[in-house]
Amino acid sequence: MPSYLVTGAAGFIGRSIAAALLARGETVRGIDSFITGKRANLVGLEAMEFIEGDLADPAACAKACAGVEIVFHEAALASVPRSVADPVGTNRNCVDATLNLLVAARAAGVRRVIYAGSSSAYGESPTLPKHEQMLPAPISPYAVAKLAGEHYMGAFTRVYGLETVVLRYFNVFGPHQDPTSHYSGVLAIFCRRMLAGQQPTIFGNGEQSRDFTYIDNVVHANLLAAAAPAEKVSGRTMNTATGSRITLNETFAILRELTGYSGQPAYAEERAGDIRDSLADIRLAGELLGYKPIVDFREGLRRTAEWYRGGGGQE
Ligand code: UD1
Repeated sequence: MPSYLVTGAAGFIGRSIAAALLARGETVRGIDSFITGKRANLVGLEAMEFIEGDLADPAACAKACAGVEIVFHEAALASVPRSVADPVGTNRNCVDATLNLLVAARAAGVRRVIYAGSSSAYGESPTLPKHEQMLPAPISPYAVAKLAGEHYMGAFTRVYGLETVVLRYFNVFGPHQDPTSHYSGVLAIFCRRMLAGQQPTIFGNGEQSRDFTYIDNVVHANLLAAAAPAEKVSGRTMNTATGSRITLNETFAILRELTGYSGQPAYAEERAGDIRDSLADIRLAGELLGYKPIVDFREGLRRTAEWYRGGGGQE
């Protein structure tokens, strides 16, 4: 019987968690609807039982949760601008999907659900670093949808006793992130363009900053969250990041070295729904999970650029 379910298993983060579980010899089931997931991301995960299904369909959730002990819920439409263009679609695939999954998890006797929260929950509040006691202030439909999922996690712990853990991810990047959509994460887009000798576009003046978090750190936090004692972590929300930030202009300069791109970026109007600065306080995950970043930004970016250089992410 499968012990672990990964939702969004054909997505960037889901496939990375599944790969780490398989490498440990665990029994893993994955589900993905391929709305944004890619079949290419399943290569190397052949030992995983895979279900093609949409979590907005309760029957798919029931099938996915049967016999599972721990769920990593990574499925989402992970994009602020996409949610601005289609808030209803984001709600369906983030909020409806999460609620259906929780209902199915409870019915199936799942012990723990670990949820991919988003730093976008903090919104525009100027305080840095962001810590978990701050009142959420979401400003995009995406942020609202991801935050609603967090609250559902909390409610299912309080009301039904399901163990839940929320990991609030800060701008995750790394190999397998899709670089081909204009909704893709900025580092994936920049790597792909700059390696191809194409000019990237910075929205705004490039002085916005992010706590860009390399994927291995996020996988590490998830594995810790799965193993941690319930009395320590259940019902808790923890930032999952590096605790340092860098501006887009600085990042561009590093990527110039890594990719050999010799041009300058184009600058365009700031994007609607964007926040300016993001930086995590990661002490809580340190206390509750023993988490600390295992790969720093520069090394992560080097590995990422190498992956795209080797042909990763082409479609
Ligand atoms: C937000 C969340 C993040 C979440 C992600 C999901 C915050 C702080 N972060 O990321 O936790 O995982 O949504 O998608 O809310 N940009 C360019 N050129 C491009 C593309 C983007 O300049 O070609 C800029 C954007 O305008 C933004 C920055 O790069 O200022 C980062 O954008 P993106 O990678 O889309 O992530 P966030 O929206 O910050």
